[in-house]
Amino acid sequence: MSLKNFLFGLGFILLLFFFIPIRVNKSNSDDLEKEFTDFMQQYNKSYKNETIYQQRFKAFLKSMKAVEKLNSHRKHNRSAYYGLTKFSDMTPDEFLNKHLQPDLYERISSRGVDDSKEYDKNHHHRIHTRSIKLKNLPLKIDWREQGVITEVNNQKLCGACWAFSTVENMESMYAIKHGQLKQLSVQQLIDCARYNNDGCEGGDSCNLLHWLKDFNVTVYDENKYPMHWKNEQCKTLNNKGVQIDKFACQRLVGNEDYILSTLVNVGPVAVAINALTWQYYLGGVIQFHCGSSPKLLNHAVQIVGYDLSAVIPHYIVRNSWGKDFGEDGYLYIAIGENLCGLANEVSVLTVL
Ligand SMILES: *[C@@H]1O[C@H](CO)[C@@H](O)[C@H](O)[C@H]1NC(C)=O
Ligand SMILES: *[C@@H]1O[C@H](CO)[C@@H](O)[C@H](O)[C@H]1NC(C)=O
Ligand SMILES: *[C@@H]1O[C@H](CO)[C@@H](O)[C@H](O)[C@H]1NC(C)=O
Ligand SMILES: *[C@@H]1O[C@H](CO)[C@@H](O)[C@H](O)[C@H]1NC(C)=O
Repeated sequence: MSLKNFLFGLGFILLLFFFIPIRVNKSNSDDLEKEFTDFMQQYNKSYKNETIYQQRFKAFLKSMKAVEKLNSHRKHNRSAYYGLTKFSDMTPDEFLNKHLQPDLYERISSRGVDDSKEYDKNHHHRIHTRSIKLKNLPLKIDWREQGVITEVNNQKLCGACWAFSTVENMESMYAIKHGQLKQLSVQQLIDCARYNNDGCEGGDSCNLLHWLKDFNVTVYDENKYPMHWKNEQCKTLNNKGVQIDKFACQRLVGNEDYILSTLVNVGPVAVAINALTWQYYLGGVIQFHCGSSPKLLNHAVQIVGYDLSAVIPHYIVRNSWGKDFGEDGYLYIAIGENLCGLANEVSVLTVL
């Protein structure tokens, strides 16, 4: 073997050990950056300067890791699946602070945790969901099919999930009772609701219901008091609107049967919920990775039905993050395990 061949061979071996792995790594990070720029294009994102770009890229890489972990527990093809969403360039902390309500538990507990007991004293306010018959529940109910659910809302950067979910229930209950589906004003509640509700800075659905009832508040039509996604001066109009008749706020952990029967016998419900992993949710039924402790509650949504006949029995959950979230604005959560803490604070109402 000539020296030339020897050096060539040595060079080749060195190449295998050093250059090839380096090349693989490089093309891998190029691929990731390509995925990021594709993501930016798909979601129409632009970043002010290189510093911000690098920050967002870092958060994006974290999201990809989180998604991989979430998807690794899928057991069935209807299990929830996760991936890139419009929120993928944020860290979970940023997501929590910008799109969720980290202080929701404090608001709930400052009202007095056992709300339903307190309200037994004033039971004219209450709907007696606990006496509702549990037997002979249908396998499925979907209030969307009854034409009593308005279009999916987009709360944008206004943290008024507490008002959206309650107004959505008022719209649905009004449609069920009067046969007319109309949009009601969320902005009015952002501007006017008291009892520890702070407009776009957060609030709690049950605090809102107490306020609506105590002051016999008339909630106006959306077109009379339109949405501006920010806190404004409270206005009183001379218009007709919708008033709450009765409501119930209940902790139904371990009693999800009552959520099902309420959905059948009364109508849609609003729940406080932990939506942290929804940052990456694309579709399917959530069965894991959604903590249920009341301390983790950070969002509120409307439940518009359930399906016990599905492979994974689930609730039909309407979110307020636009139609481009999840499955046309909706998501699905398995029944029976207080997933995402959905049974910690369940509210139902009727209207006059
Ligand atoms: C994309 O973003 C730019 C600037 O933020 C905006 O002007 C434009 O309307 C957006 N386009 C789409 C399709 O969303
Ligand atoms: C990039 O933009 C951010 C936000 O406007 C600013 O705080 C930061 O100083 C900028 N960085 C550079 C290097 O220009
Ligand atoms: C899911 O799996 C079932 C059988 O287990 C199959 O019939 C169905 O086509 C699958 N659906 C999808 C979307 O892959
Ligand atoms: C609300 O309406 C009820 C029943 O009509 C009435 O008794 C109560 O005084 C009203 N409360 C307020 C604050 O107007």
